[in-house]
Amino acid sequence: MELDIYLDHTDLAKQLRADASAGLTATPKWLSPRWFYDARGSDLFEEITQLDEYYPTRTERAILTERAHEIAELTGARTLVELGSGSSDKTRLLLDALSPALFMPLDVSVSALKAAAVAVHAEYPNMRVHALVADFNRHLERIPRAESRLVAFLGGTIGNLIPEERARFYAELRGALEPGEWLLLGTDLVKDPGTLVRAYDDAAGVTAEFNKNVLLVLNRELGADFDVDSFAHVAHWDAEHEWIEMRLRAERDMRVHLQRLDLTVEFAAKEELHTEVSAKFREEGVATELRAAGFEPLRWWTDPDDLFGLTLAVAS
Ligand code: SAH
Ligand code: AVI
Repeated sequence: MELDIYLDHTDLAKQLRADASAGLTATPKWLSPRWFYDARGSDLFEEITQLDEYYPTRTERAILTERAHEIAELTGARTLVELGSGSSDKTRLLLDALSPALFMPLDVSVSALKAAAVAVHAEYPNMRVHALVADFNRHLERIPRAESRLVAFLGGTIGNLIPEERARFYAELRGALEPGEWLLLGTDLVKDPGTLVRAYDDAAGVTAEFNKNVLLVLNRELGADFDVDSFAHVAHWDAEHEWIEMRLRAERDMRVHLQRLDLTVEFAAKEELHTEVSAKFREEGVATELRAAGFEPLRWWTDPDDLFGLTLAVAS
């Protein structure tokens, strides 16, 4: 198993400082969702994927189970790259169908990436595993060239990028691929708001823990003194943008000091800190965005209830 680090602790610390300074002094206040994923955040995400209310993971798994062999036949890919790979759990379905020579998982979460790469390597001893600790918003052009690549971006993580970030992401990904290489993209779909809000505000409170974990990351990494219990988890459906917004609502007036930024931030009671956008898609919107970046969508698969969509597109 090989592991390349494009993002070390120093880069991460620098970016967290820059993001937190910008986001916590803006109106409204915001933090990027990538800071959720320290070791605890990655574990909490895995717990979310097991929840009854959180339908995306099991639905995408069902689609992959049905379509993995078709994907292998259509692409004939010899290399599988996975962006935001996390535990690479569903990815085993693709590895089984493709039997690629090389698997390249890429993630910012070192703990999740290493655990997954070691496990996959043990399960597929004849396949090379080359893991990349990297940011899919910054390092796509550094993904190594390899024989006939298929890039999988699963879970609906593309929805955690706002439209301008998505356009840049698709353009950079297209620039990193040769014509004829492939993208397999998972997108969560627009549906009734009740189902959506339940998926992001589960009864057991796991998503609330995941959301609040970002404050613990700031406390640890930036010497901040957020009183985590004084923030409430909010999952809001924004019908205009067709996205779920996760926020943390201050339950009282608070003054937070971030020692390593030499910054003090005031929260008014009920003020909300924006922590994540999770966009929901329609088939046409996905195809339009992909075409604009130089991908040709060839297949669109969904489940019987139209909860989740999987697109296979080729770099044209
Ligand atoms: N693909 C898995 C995991 C999705 S969770 C699934 O479908 O279940 C989102 C994953 O993306 C996490 O593992 C997180 O660490 C990773 N991630 C978030 N922002 C990232 C970024 N900017 N660059 C690379 N990985 C990122
Ligand atoms: C990783 N990503 C697709 C998840 C989502 O559904 O937007 C992260 C998440 N946030 C809350 N629950 C899960």
